[in-house]
Amino acid sequence: MLPLLLTITFILFHLHISAAARLCRWDDRAALTAFKNSFTNPNPFPTWDPAFDCCDWYGVKCNDTTSRVISLDIASHGSLTGPIPSSLANLTYLQNLCLHKIPNLVGQTPPSLTKIPNLRFRVISWTNISGPIPHFLAQIKNLAYLDLSFNRLSGTLPPSLPTLPYLFAIDLSRNQLTGPIPEAFGHFQKAAGFQALDLSHNKLFGPLPSSLTNVPFSSVDVCRNNLTGDTSVFFGKGKAASRIDISRNGFEFDLSKESFMESLDMLDISHNRIYGEIPKQITEAVYFQFLNVSYNRL
Ligand SMILES: *[C@@H]1O[C@H](CO)[C@@H](O)[C@H](O)[C@H]1NC(C)=O
Ligand SMILES: *[C@@H]1O[C@H](CO)[C@@H](O)[C@H](O)[C@H]1NC(C)=O
Ligand SMILES: *[C@@H]1O[C@H](CO)[C@@H](O)[C@H](O)[C@H]1NC(C)=O
Ligand SMILES: *[C@@H]1O[C@H](CO)[C@@H](O)[C@H](O)[C@H]1NC(C)=O
Ligand SMILES: *[C@@H]1O[C@H](CO)[C@@H](O)[C@H](O)[C@H]1NC(C)=O
Repeated sequence: MLPLLLTITFILFHLHISAAARLCRWDDRAALTAFKNSFTNPNPFPTWDPAFDCCDWYGVKCNDTTSRVISLDIASHGSLTGPIPSSLANLTYLQNLCLHKIPNLVGQTPPSLTKIPNLRFRVISWTNISGPIPHFLAQIKNLAYLDLSFNRLSGTLPPSLPTLPYLFAIDLSRNQLTGPIPEAFGHFQKAAGFQALDLSHNKLFGPLPSSLTNVPFSSVDVCRNNLTGDTSVFFGKGKAASRIDISRNGFEFDLSKESFMESLDMLDISHNRIYGEIPKQITEAVYFQFLNVSYNRL
């Protein structure tokens, strides 16, 4: 009897040790389960089995020390159907949220997402979410990277985004965004070192705000909109962009008067109403890997 009891005690002890070292927190597990159950599919993630540690579930990552869920990354899930669940807000330690290539993810962004104070990387791309880009995103104070590309978002660009102290890159390409680029987009927080802006393939119009000249872009893509105005906010002395695409807009300026920086290795200004001569600085430049000036009035 005694050896058996000892064995059982040993097994229980052992189970307890290994479980304590690995099991994710009950409240994170509850939030993940609520996330899963909010979709109309009966069992969207077969590995999300209650018998296993939820830190080992598909797409879930925990911090090794705290066992808190810090990353949720769900991609290429053709059948997942429903809106973005507000239960995500209960993953309070989440730093990285990626919902990518989920064609049946629909509806608007729930305001509860502002309750994730540590969220740094937020990618919701190639889905069918719609509605405006909410102003309340500017309340997610740690947000550093925002990618909402390839969705069905409409409405105007929220002028509040540049108030985010760590934001360094925005990709809002391939939506149905309209209106002008707000003047506030020239006032990203200096300490964040804003780098990359992609607003391509939308329905933006109106002149570029002159404030954009303040932003130390390394990459700008505004192609396929209906923007006008002064593109020298991107070019010229003191600028350091390596990639600029302003193609397929309504830009109308004298190219001979622009100066270009040596950092540039990709420039596409095709399909505008740009006139003048192509500067030697461009044609003789050895630093270009890609240059397209076609379909203008040069
Ligand atoms: C995990 O949590 C510890 C303690 O809070 C923290 O020091 C560490 O940076 C975290 N690691 C990651 C990868 O977030
Ligand atoms: C978050 O968790 C609490 C307690 O478990 C629950 O009452 C609440 O409904 C959850 N919030 C959301 C948005 O699911
Ligand atoms: C949005 O839904 C339509 C039709 O349901 C589908 O054809 C399209 O691929 C979806 N968009 C994305 C980006 O998945
Ligand atoms: C672009 O704007 C011009 C006026 O500035 C307008 O005539 C034209 O229809 C617009 N094009 C598109 C594709 O919206
Ligand atoms: C330049 O742009 C035009 C129009 O968009 C396109 O037809 C052409 O193939 C491009 N040239 C190169 C070298 O990519």
